[in-house]
Amino acid sequence: MRKIIITAALCGLAIPVLAQTVSLAKNTIDEVIKAMTLEEKVKLCIGTGMAGFSGDQAVIGATQNLVPGAAGTSYPIPRLGIPAVVLADGPAGLRISPTRKDDKNTYYCTHFPIGTLLACTWDTTLVNNVGKAIGNEVLEYGADVLLAPALNIHRNPLCGRNFEYYSEDPVVSGKIAAAYVKGIQSNGVGTSIKHFALNNQETNRMSNDAQVSPRAQREIYLKGFEIAVKESKPWTVMSSYNFLNGKYTSERTDLQTTLLRGEWGYDGMVMTDWFGGKDAPQQMRAGNDMLQPGRPEQYDAIVAAVKSGALDESILNRNVARILEMIKKTPRFNGYQFSNKPDLKAHAAVTRRSAVDGMVLLKNDNNALPMKGVKKVAVYGNTSYDFIAGGFGSGDVNRAYTVSLLEGLKNAGFTPDATLQKEYTAYLDSIKEAEKGKNGGNMFIPMALPDEMTLASADLDRQAANADIALITLGRKSGEFLDRQSSDFYLTENARKLIDEVSAAFHAKGKKVVVILNIGGPIETASWKNTPDAILCAWQGGQEGGNSVADVLTGKAYPSGKLTMTWPIRYEDHASSKNFPIDMKPSMNFMNNIPRNEVLVKYFDYTPYEEDIYVGYRFFDSFGRDVSYPFGYGLSYTTFSYDQPNVSKDGDNYIVNVRVRNTGSTKGREVVQLYVSAPDAAAANKPTQELKTFAKTRELKPGESEVITLTVPAAELASFDEAQSAWVTAPGTYMFKVGASSRDIRASLPAEVEAAKRPVNSILGLDTELQRLKRK
Ligand code: BGC
Repeated sequence: MRKIIITAALCGLAIPVLAQTVSLAKNTIDEVIKAMTLEEKVKLCIGTGMAGFSGDQAVIGATQNLVPGAAGTSYPIPRLGIPAVVLADGPAGLRISPTRKDDKNTYYCTHFPIGTLLACTWDTTLVNNVGKAIGNEVLEYGADVLLAPALNIHRNPLCGRNFEYYSEDPVVSGKIAAAYVKGIQSNGVGTSIKHFALNNQETNRMSNDAQVSPRAQREIYLKGFEIAVKESKPWTVMSSYNFLNGKYTSERTDLQTTLLRGEWGYDGMVMTDWFGGKDAPQQMRAGNDMLQPGRPEQYDAIVAAVKSGALDESILNRNVARILEMIKKTPRFNGYQFSNKPDLKAHAAVTRRSAVDGMVLLKNDNNALPMKGVKKVAVYGNTSYDFIAGGFGSGDVNRAYTVSLLEGLKNAGFTPDATLQKEYTAYLDSIKEAEKGKNGGNMFIPMALPDEMTLASADLDRQAANADIALITLGRKSGEFLDRQSSDFYLTENARKLIDEVSAAFHAKGKKVVVILNIGGPIETASWKNTPDAILCAWQGGQEGGNSVADVLTGKAYPSGKLTMTWPIRYEDHASSKNFPIDMKPSMNFMNNIPRNEVLVKYFDYTPYEEDIYVGYRFFDSFGRDVSYPFGYGLSYTTFSYDQPNVSKDGDNYIVNVRVRNTGSTKGREVVQLYVSAPDAAAANKPTQELKTFAKTRELKPGESEVITLTVPAAELASFDEAQSAWVTAPGTYMFKVGASSRDIRASLPAEVEAAKRPVNSILGLDTELQRLKRK
């Protein structure tokens, strides 16, 4: 100690001597905080800025020098041994720049399947394995936290970012998210579960107020986050852009602290979404520890608030402590020597395999699939040739390649109709040329997909005579910044004609037609699904998409996915469609930076969640509405029977055992779903049935069976009672229903359930400021 004092004295440094000796590696977090200046604390609570957006605050090159193309970094304080840690998107893989200035190496990442596809596997082990592979790329490319998973609820089929999200059901969302988080974090890197919460639309996402009852929040929109937080302990949570009942979510203490930390026991760090929220001192108070990517006004506002006493420095210290705890866990802090060489080949195999398991076979008349005796294929539809790997925006991945369906088929040894291929290539090239710079294409939003081309009937006859089968791909592009349009849900006239005419020509020759859907969210199917022989929803399966589809078409692999969202007959059938902003012009106002009061008065935009808890199948099933494909639906190449299950009570859990048997002639896996109906469903205003848990069998050979055990904690049977601010379980006879989908219940078992009540804080109601404004 004496030596250090002498050295410091000789150098005449202004920094207190003790502080010089403090470092995050050696001292406690309290000691580090004591050694920090106010300026350092505030800087740590905001990021290093984003060049072009953050004025002088931007530490130019901060992220670029560490991992180019990552979304952001935390502020480094070298004198205290606090490194900048790197935060990068997520969720279909790591999003960083594939090339670097003056560097011949490439830094491509694996584009894995979109979140929706992963959820449709209903396989937490598979999702965990995908997470392990993605997390390995995060680690080996030198990032510290992956900004994923994204688990907002599919409230409406047209939300632009549904492809990143998992389901209309919170249990599926939460369980899949937890498996993903555990996989990523097993690499010693972090995750950020996002967007917390109620970010269910892209339109006006920074100035839109989600007006939602506390009950719907608790039962539908927060539940998945609760499961993920409790089961997987994500290092960080990302708050959302939107308002919730009149207040920005990132400024709500009741959300970020009372509920998240108090009720759910979360002890990690919360960061904003990029440029989210307005009132920086209030974000600090709310428990939103870090503001990303950081702006000078935020710095000024927080410093001023501390100096004036409006913000207690102890709050800043609390937030700083959480950030430091996160930093201490990172590979960068712990000196990990990353290779910049993850095993991309091995990960390509992981994505190829996982994409298969989330594909949903919607129709398969007379076992049209897997294809038999097929050598020559006639391949239709733009996206057969230009396959879509995933969505756009921050959920995109800079991959080295995308295998199209055409390439996948060629790799599998099929001969595609060469003339048709030429025509499609020429058509797609000509559109690309003509549309350059038009058609919405810009750095954020890619060009819209061209319409399907018209085919001459003579050509069709020739193709049908020549090929053994017709494959038609219908594709959709969706992404961040804008919601899908209703025209994106429905088929164009040309697409309808394509299905009709190809089917007529091939059926006339006794040949089959398969439609493949390369989409990020449901489209209209009811009006045309009778026409082709088979329909395979392949989703957007990542960079190996075409190979994965070929694997399923040939029977090298089999589909075992089921839908995690209802496919309505018409878009308008969804209860939420009454209050969802469709067909608005795409706008760039996702970057709006309007001061709060102006937002409320001038630009205030709100979405009343009038359907309340009746989201997805909870609505369709409770109100007896027909659907095109129900929640939980999906065929297989084989068939399964369910033996009579039984239900028993073990402590606080209800346990259902059911034997599932492969009754068909090929191997397969079955997703088993457990729904519960409350005794006085109607009177208590509960959905007719709700999914409580699920499981997937292992691979079963013909004749093989497996006993599946489904466990439901008694507490999960409660509903949220707003008047009492409590989770309340009505006593009586509940029906435990084992189903192959929400509309295919194989057995219903009665079980007696006792009354229960668990009071919680009354929170998340309507902001009084908004109430006042509304009354005017
Ligand atoms: C998105 C986040 C993303 C962040 C950083 C935002 O626009 O909403 O999901 O993590 O950008 O790229």
